[in-house]
Amino acid sequence: MCGIVGYIGSKNIKTILLEGLKELEYRGYDSAGIAIMQDDDLHIFKAVGKLDNLQEKTKEYEPQGFGVGIGHTRWATHGKPTELNAHPHMGEYSYVVHNGIIENFKEIKEELKERDFVSQTDTETIVHLFEEYLKKYENPQEAFHKTIERLEGAYAILLITKAEPYKIFFAKKGSPLIVGRDGSEIYFASSDAPLIGHAKEVHYLEDGEWGVAKAGNIELFKGNTPIPPKFQKLSINKELAQKGGFRFFMEKEIYEQSDVITETMMGRICDDGIDFDELDHEFLHNISNITICACGTSFHAGLSGSYLIEQLAKIPVRTEIASEFRYKKPVLQKETLFVVISQSGETADTLEALKMAKDAGLKTLAICNVDNSSIVRLADRSILTRAGIEKGVASTKAFTTQLMVLWMLSVYLAQQNSSLAPKEIEEEIHAMSTTPKALKVRQEMHERIKRLSKRYLHGHGFFYIGRDIFYPLALEGALKLKEISYLHAEGYPAGEMKHGPIALADPELFTIALMSKNKLYEKTKNNVEELSARDATICAISSQEFDLADDFIKINDWNHFMLEYYEMAVVLQLLAMEIAIRLGNDVDMPRNLAKSVTVE
Ligand code: G6P
Repeated sequence: MCGIVGYIGSKNIKTILLEGLKELEYRGYDSAGIAIMQDDDLHIFKAVGKLDNLQEKTKEYEPQGFGVGIGHTRWATHGKPTELNAHPHMGEYSYVVHNGIIENFKEIKEELKERDFVSQTDTETIVHLFEEYLKKYENPQEAFHKTIERLEGAYAILLITKAEPYKIFFAKKGSPLIVGRDGSEIYFASSDAPLIGHAKEVHYLEDGEWGVAKAGNIELFKGNTPIPPKFQKLSINKELAQKGGFRFFMEKEIYEQSDVITETMMGRICDDGIDFDELDHEFLHNISNITICACGTSFHAGLSGSYLIEQLAKIPVRTEIASEFRYKKPVLQKETLFVVISQSGETADTLEALKMAKDAGLKTLAICNVDNSSIVRLADRSILTRAGIEKGVASTKAFTTQLMVLWMLSVYLAQQNSSLAPKEIEEEIHAMSTTPKALKVRQEMHERIKRLSKRYLHGHGFFYIGRDIFYPLALEGALKLKEISYLHAEGYPAGEMKHGPIALADPELFTIALMSKNKLYEKTKNNVEELSARDATICAISSQEFDLADDFIKINDWNHFMLEYYEMAVVLQLLAMEIAIRLGNDVDMPRNLAKSVTVE
């Protein structure tokens, strides 16, 4: 996800901004830029790729004395990673950096169509809107307030303008923003790391707060009301700051899911349905079936998605592991939509499978987290998952966002072929909008899993079981555990245990049972009872009390199976992580594994 920095003061402003961006590198980015104003002099630099490229571009410029500046690292979501799309974006005399997504940017752009837009981004609308309001209201502060009032979606914004060259205008809703100070020096950043060693005290902006800062002075508002900033000391170290105070990046990424899923949905769901800019009727015309192809966790998202597409859109789907697909001499038919799923967009097997499908003339769609990756470049169309960089080798937020795209795709397809009634579509949309709640890590739940994990450090194996869409989730739960704890685990369809694996049942066989209230509860319960009767140790995850469980993890009582799915996914991720931590493993970098497997 993108990063923001800002500075007002007399130190070397170029160095402060570039070093600040360096501290945000860990978040991942594909382009970067800074804008510095010294009196009426504006210097703007942008570069695609690493910060070294940006540094190189700025090398002739040495700022002297007081300045005001903003900087940004961009992770592409609207528009390719190009210099034109990199921030800061400019109007005629104002400059803006922004994290988040402006949902109503198309509408605003349409209104301002006589203005000169140069990028494909949603961000550029902010600066044009500001300048339009400034014509009308003549007061930059009022124009800024009117601007943010018009914006729908999520944002952290810093804006500078020649109309008031000594100030930074700022606002936050949904994306993090911090303002800090040391005497008269003012600092901004989207996370703690760039502020450490600079700002003595900081105020973490709350949603809906905005303001204007100049040297030695920060004015803060909520709506029209001035409010005092709540300054606190900044004491954590850089490593902790990068991990957001969490022990591991994986833990941070598990906690982030509730926020990033909102970004995945933004601009794509509305009250009565799904809209993908990336797709259209013509592209999907003549498609009679779908093949999904992926590796690892992405394959599990794909398999889960196949249940959704078949059940909601009534389109036949087959799901293939890419390394198998490549060599099985598959029959490829033109009326198949070929969907590849990949966090990195660089997985060699998935890329090769995509090439095969393209060569056979199939229409191809990539669901991917990295814009401009090899897979995105090759596929006919791509839908970005917008999860931001994922550092933990064991995938978490990439998985849950991939599945959200597949769920939205199922409803989109159902709209196209009228396989769902409007009321049913509304129910799906309502459930999707509730997903951030289901993904939110509850402290008492995390504590319980932490305590309970100590009972699962040995044994001769784990079976994760579930039915229907909870079967691929069981596969994913088992994979998470294997990847980071190095314990043996298998995912299995609960109804299939009696055809072999039940022979393994004894107290040392740990069964993690995914017991959905909304999908085949009684059937799953019978399967778990069969294992319990043979003395297997049962850890049940459900909203329904289950007496035979040795351990019980209670989730919320959701009325849509996908909300159960998402909450259970978080439980399984936390369980794997807590077991691995107790075993002393490096959760972020497990042995023998790579984040991106670019070889066969
Ligand atoms: C590697 C990673 C897995 C990942 C898989 C597919 O094996 O360790 O976490 O699921 O590759 O990666 P992709 O980037 O294509 O989703």
